[in-house]
Amino acid sequence: MASMIDLTHRVALVAGGAGAVGEGIVRAFLQRGATVVVPSRSAERLIDLRRRLDDPENLLTLEGDVSTVEGAAEIRDRALDEAGDLDAVVASVGGWWQGGDLVDVDTATWRRVLDDNLTTHFVLARTFVPVLRERASTYLMITGDAADVPVAGASLVSVAAAGLLALFRSLVLELRGSPIRVNVLYLGPVITRNRPDGRPDWLTADEVGTHAAYLASDEGAMAAGSVIRLTDRPPGRAAR
Ligand SMILES: NC(=O)c1ccc[n+]([C@@H]2O[C@H](COP(=O)([O-])OP(=O)(O)OC[C@H]3O[C@@H](n4cnc5c(N)ncnc54)[C@H](OP(=O)(O)O)[C@@H]3O)[C@@H](O)[C@H]2O)c1
Repeated sequence: MASMIDLTHRVALVAGGAGAVGEGIVRAFLQRGATVVVPSRSAERLIDLRRRLDDPENLLTLEGDVSTVEGAAEIRDRALDEAGDLDAVVASVGGWWQGGDLVDVDTATWRRVLDDNLTTHFVLARTFVPVLRERASTYLMITGDAADVPVAGASLVSVAAAGLLALFRSLVLELRGSPIRVNVLYLGPVITRNRPDGRPDWLTADEVGTHAAYLASDEGAMAAGSVIRLTDRPPGRAAR
């Protein structure tokens, strides 16, 4: 699958591309010839990403905040100006939180974790889907299996992930008849730069990237409105 994917002349924006999973997605798109736009709130994280990827020519980094309507619109407009029409958007935003029992969570924490893991996805979708929906394009959301597998002390991540699946299903319904393909990659734990010594049956961030690149390619065109579960490596299959 990996070798046949060609994303030459495609432009992809990876929100959360400076993150641990996002880095694997950005690398996979670049390796297959795409121009990749990565926004981040942190100039330092963007510099670090560029260094980790060996300063690729086709990487455009934009400092900004996609969690606000204004910030996301600014990133969208700069991406369109500087990289051209977008063919693919990947939303790999959010992160883990494990702060205690649900009944002990204060409302400020509730709002912050739901903002990071759910509201930012809503803002990204309402900003980018309108510029993609008339094109043969793709929109991919990344989430974890916490939607179905609650972890003690991590309830807010589960609540946000379940909400994301509902957001996804609503989008798919409302975009029926449009050429855009919207999918979700539903992940188990991932081996990343932050957790290089994960279990051997976990996927690596680069493998997540390969799947994301496939879904953005012509070869992945059959996947539309799909939740693709990547939670377990089949026995006997080594990491690639
Ligand atoms: N790591 C895993 O093992 C794992 C497993 C299953 C699923 N996932 C999923 O993978 C996705 C990314 O996780 P990760 O491990 O890569 O996390 P990460 O390293 O913390 O990166 C998260 C990225 O999300 C962005 N982000 C977070 N909150 C944001 C906000 N309020 N506004 C704008 N951007 C925000 C950050 O952007 P900035 O660069 O602007 O800070 C950052 O680049 C999440 O959806 C997570 O549920 C991860």
